[in-house]
Amino acid sequence: MSAEKFMKIRLNSIHPSAPVPFDIFVQIGQRHVHYLRAGDQIAAEKIENFEKKAPDAFFIYANERGNYQRYVRERMVSEELPTREKAIILRESSMSIVEELFENPDVSRALQESKEVISQFVSFMDQDPDAMAHLIGLSSHDFYTYNHSLDVGIYSLGLGKVAGYDGAELHELGQGALFHDVGKRHVNVDIICKAGPLDEVEWAQMQKHPQYGLMILNNYSVSDAIKACCFEHHESFVGNGYPQQLVGQEIHPMARIVAITDTYDALTTKRSYNNPMMPTDALNFMKEKLGARYDENLLRAMYEIMFHMREAGIET
Ligand SMILES: [Fe+2]
Ligand SMILES: [Fe+2]
Repeated sequence: MSAEKFMKIRLNSIHPSAPVPFDIFVQIGQRHVHYLRAGDQIAAEKIENFEKKAPDAFFIYANERGNYQRYVRERMVSEELPTREKAIILRESSMSIVEELFENPDVSRALQESKEVISQFVSFMDQDPDAMAHLIGLSSHDFYTYNHSLDVGIYSLGLGKVAGYDGAELHELGQGALFHDVGKRHVNVDIICKAGPLDEVEWAQMQKHPQYGLMILNNYSVSDAIKACCFEHHESFVGNGYPQQLVGQEIHPMARIVAITDTYDALTTKRSYNNPMMPTDALNFMKEKLGARYDENLLRAMYEIMFHMREAGIET
């Protein structure tokens, strides 16, 4: 059976508390081997075991995508599952879609599907007061473009909500944040994955990703706000950002949000050359060392998120 017949899903988007309504496969070499029959439950220990060996190990038939999405939606409204578990399921299930954003040449499909992802995050945050705190508390361990994009999307929804965004605007912000680094599709993968610091030539190439992103998005009907999240997220309030050296209010308000959540994610995630900072340490660092780059009010609003996280019992 060809690879396109299968869709990769994250292990932790499957929960041991309920039967799984679709077949699950594992990949061995080039083959997909049947692992769990539709209607069966999977033991928590089995998921844990797989996690250690191969976190991306589960596959489903691609034509069961709708079933899978329904399964996730049902978990999200379950009375029994604690908020943190729901946050894990939602985050992990969204990851496969985010991977597609970067791998699938069809950006229009990715743009379309991202709307659904953002809606799910927004309704989870609306429905459960601790949802945002838990989603933000679940930072990825490693810095990959996929994890990073999803995290920046989630953090931006959180910060946007605290800053007073809602409805269509909040959705737009989430989408813009999710696509903020889409231009990295055109940057050489060796540069993106390089373990150490970049040399001058590599850095110049890397700094083009906002332009590349804009070029990509210009081919589709997306709003100016979404384009701004992509094109202006490396601008700095004092004018020393790139690519346009915009100053203060010239930077689109949504891009100002992404600028903050982008740096926050970089600081709180493990990179090859630094250890992750705790959330509050990262924010203090941003305020004390980089404060001039950001919209002061938005940076202050990030502290409000830390407060929500502590309220929800998450270490900050
Ligand atoms: Fe970027
Ligand atoms: Fe980024």
